[in-house]
Amino acid sequence: MANATDHLWMHFTRMASYSAGEVPTIVRGEGAYVWDAQGRRYLDGLAGLFVVNAGHGRTELAEAAAKQASELAYFPLWSYAHPKAIELAERIAALTPGDLNRIFFTTGGSEAVEAAWKLARAYFKRTGKPNKYKVISRYIAYHGTSMGALSITGLPGIKSDFEPLVPGAIKVPNTNFYRAPEHGDDPEAFGRWAADEIGRAIEREGPDTVAAVFLEPVQNSGGCFPPPPGYFERVREICDAYDVLLVSDEVICSWGRLGEYFGAVRYGYQPDIITTAKGITSGYAPLGAMIASDRLMEPFLTETGMFAHGVTFGGHPVSCAVALANLEVFAREDLVGHVRANEDAFRATLEKLYDLPIVGDVRGDGYFYGIELVKDKTTRETFTEAESERLLRGFLSTALFQAGLYCRADDRGDPVIQLAPPLIAEQQHFDEIEQILRTVLTEAWTKL
Ligand SMILES: Cc1ncc(COP(=O)(O)O)c(C=O)c1O
Repeated sequence: MANATDHLWMHFTRMASYSAGEVPTIVRGEGAYVWDAQGRRYLDGLAGLFVVNAGHGRTELAEAAAKQASELAYFPLWSYAHPKAIELAERIAALTPGDLNRIFFTTGGSEAVEAAWKLARAYFKRTGKPNKYKVISRYIAYHGTSMGALSITGLPGIKSDFEPLVPGAIKVPNTNFYRAPEHGDDPEAFGRWAADEIGRAIEREGPDTVAAVFLEPVQNSGGCFPPPPGYFERVREICDAYDVLLVSDEVICSWGRLGEYFGAVRYGYQPDIITTAKGITSGYAPLGAMIASDRLMEPFLTETGMFAHGVTFGGHPVSCAVALANLEVFAREDLVGHVRANEDAFRATLEKLYDLPIVGDVRGDGYFYGIELVKDKTTRETFTEAESERLLRGFLSTALFQAGLYCRADDRGDPVIQLAPPLIAEQQHFDEIEQILRTVLTEAWTKL
């Protein structure tokens, strides 16, 4: 095999870091495990990239793809339809909360986020509020990399090379309760404060200029920030008061990740738009979707009206066929129920790690957890940039992988280890994750 670094330009990768070593090359997957080119086995603690929800090696999903490709490999959704897109849209509409009945397919998450911002702008232009174009999102949140989605993303480190970005993307505090700047002893008051920050941002910008708020049910980047109690209820009130659309970015948080088909259902709020991707096909083919309420489609249903947006491969027949087969697996095996039944055990197993001096906070819901690492548990002191570099990039990522656990050590906020195993995972996998983390984190502590 050619060397991976000769021609392949990897995503978000320090290519130079591989000059001395070989790029880990994954060749096969089965259940919760993957194997590399040398035949070593790894527990897939991140479901690929929050994607392989049904687990690896499902031949029925591969067969659904082959069958569709033989029958009709491709036809666009531009003024034409194909049966699998129609069927999948109907199936999704039946699973979404409330009147989120209009499914606009994309090929992935960034495109779904991009489409949602465009829809919000176009909707208000067509309903007599043409100045509403801005979007609000949270610090450290990741919403994708295309120029619109990147503008919504709240991570300066991945934006600065590409500026100037799309104007009108405003940032507000996230719900990192462990590092709450206010109300650190009262989650409810903290949630109220964080939600009200959105209201204050809308006031500052001018309610006539704000189109939408983009929030993940559980914010991934920064290491799993679940919503404090009452947060989304208050956000919904604020959005209604100012006529601002609430977009639930569920690229990670849908399809069982949080023990429901959609994160909004888990936390009991009604968005105007859901953006999704990743687990919709469990990764057996690429697909994303922007799911809008009936109300948002209405202005486009006039005789000459249309949402002037599209992508060639959005709603690709093979991807739609795979998504339908994936949802069959979900229903047959009750994967969503499996997450609900096992999430407490997953949490309890990870919480055993609290006896390590480096483990500051274990947070998340469902099968979606972040473990924040600290230098001092009592003061919650975090690492300096140099320490973080040495610890996360220099040691942890490689050491965890070598110990047989694929997961993510991330320092886009404070240093965290992120875990999101396939939804088929059970106690034996939780134990394996805990044991590998325990060994490697214990060693990491000695290296500080
Ligand atoms: C919340 C969220 N939104 C959007 C995206 C972008 O999705 P994609 O990488 O499929 O473009 C991601 C990707 O991880 C995400 O986590």
